[in-house]
Amino acid sequence: MSSRLDGQVALVTGAAGGLGSAVVRRYLAEGARVVAADLRAGPLEELAERLGRPATLTTVAGDASDWKTSVAMVDTAHRHFGPVDVYTSCVGVYDHNVRLVDLPGDQLGEALQECWRINVGSILVNLRAALDDLIATRGRVVLTGSYASYAAAGGGVLYTSSKHAVLGVVKQLAHELAPKVRVNAVAPGVLPTVMTGIGALGQGTRDAVLPGTEDALPLHHIPTGDDLAGLYVTLASAADTAAVTGSVLVADSGLLARGLAAPAGGDDL
Ligand SMILES: NC(=O)c1ccc[n+]([C@@H]2O[C@H](COP(=O)([O-])OP(=O)(O)OC[C@H]3O[C@@H](n4cnc5c(N)ncnc54)[C@H](O)[C@@H]3O)[C@@H](O)[C@H]2O)c1
Repeated sequence: MSSRLDGQVALVTGAAGGLGSAVVRRYLAEGARVVAADLRAGPLEELAERLGRPATLTTVAGDASDWKTSVAMVDTAHRHFGPVDVYTSCVGVYDHNVRLVDLPGDQLGEALQECWRINVGSILVNLRAALDDLIATRGRVVLTGSYASYAAAGGGVLYTSSKHAVLGVVKQLAHELAPKVRVNAVAPGVLPTVMTGIGALGQGTRDAVLPGTEDALPLHHIPTGDDLAGLYVTLASAADTAAVTGSVLVADSGLLARGLAAPAGGDDL
């Protein structure tokens, strides 16, 4: 089988996370040269170690919502591999479903800023830093939306509004950057990861999957990052999705399609 990302230079943020690490592994397997970036230096190094420190992988530790880190990621790509062909964001913080009524008013502004700065702002500063490259390489952008980009109850109002905003970024930048750069996203439903909460609210890390989730999913299956990584490859590929921009591949185990029927489908099928 041919490698779908042969020689492509890919920048992946949130690379140490549950989803990001699966995407990095799959991009490498498909022949890409990867700059893996994450805030958490330790897990990032553990990932590089697990993957056997291939010559096609390099890492950058830092805050992806920061301009200097964004420039450092692109500089690192140049130093090790060359101009960026693919930008993929798997960064994210979660609000652990906190309701507006439970949010202390005096912490709201800071919490909102943190959530949006990381979930939305990091994408914009990273892309601004990589834009000359992406235009020159006729590059591809693959962002991470969510079930919460479309519907309520995939998070609290901080997270849900930030993930709706990711769809706005996809559409606006698909428009602005055409015809040179394609901009798309994958929207997962649930993943068995441990997500970081909002620091300004004193939230720690918690399992992203709530009890009972599996039964609520029409497909009755909680996918792993590995189950979704191929979708990122497809959108990152120059050949396989040449006519696709401004689109979102929804990978939510059927959640958005389920309607009122509960449980969905049937075991007799
Ligand atoms: N877990 C789920 O159920 C779920 C569902 C839908 C969408 N998503 C989305 O999938 C993406 C990946 O999430 P995950 O489940 O793998 O969670 P995760 O917490 O395992 O991964 C997120 C990664 O982002 C990194 N990160 C956070 N802030 C950062 C910053 N400022 N700079 C650089 N890196 C930073 C974290 O260190 C972490 O490694 C996120 O966009 C998330 O919103 C997750």
